[in-house]
Amino acid sequence: KRVGIFVSGGGSNMRALVEDMGRDHPAEPVVVVSNNPHARGITWAQDAGLATVVVDHYPFGRDRAAFEAAITEALAPHDLDLICLAGFMRVLTAGFVTHWRDRMLNIHPSLLPKYRGLHTHARALEAGDTEHGCTVHLVTPELDDGPVLGQVRVPIHAGDTPDDLAARVLVQEHRLYPAVLRRYAAGDRAPLML
Ligand code: GRF
Repeated sequence: KRVGIFVSGGGSNMRALVEDMGRDHPAEPVVVVSNNPHARGITWAQDAGLATVVVDHYPFGRDRAAFEAAITEALAPHDLDLICLAGFMRVLTAGFVTHWRDRMLNIHPSLLPKYRGLHTHARALEAGDTEHGCTVHLVTPELDDGPVLGQVRVPIHAGDTPDDLAARVLVQEHRLYPAVLRRYAAGDRAPLML
């Protein structure tokens, strides 16, 4: 399976996926895509010898469809089977998501369906939750709403700041996403609870 990985920032999840696909794996990383010309994940991908596509979303303003058309055009030669959104911070239109139905995965730093959207760690702390975690799911037109492919739970400790919690969750994201992609690329969509 040919995989495209979409990043907006540091790309730590992308790095975990690429490194795991280096070993006896049903998928291979073919291209790393970003909306952000300054994404450090792009620099890392280039240094790793991967193809990269940068489509700065800023010039497109509110025209999401035009932004996505530019990405679709740049992706065409790569003949992708799957897309992994990995710290990708742009909402995708229903048109794009439907085109990639059942072929686009995302990792979200909460135990979905809890805390869709942003600032998930602060919200879990605010709510007084005793545990938190991350979820890999298939992308559907509703934000952070598709079928769950995997989850990992982490404990919340007294005195945790959002950054403490985010760091604890991120470690588990780097375990979960590669494990889920291995299964999904092999045709197994049974949820994986690590
Ligand atoms: C992190 O907050 C992670 O929880 C979420 O996206 C952010 C950046 O991830 N998935 P990455 O380091 O760019 O993969």
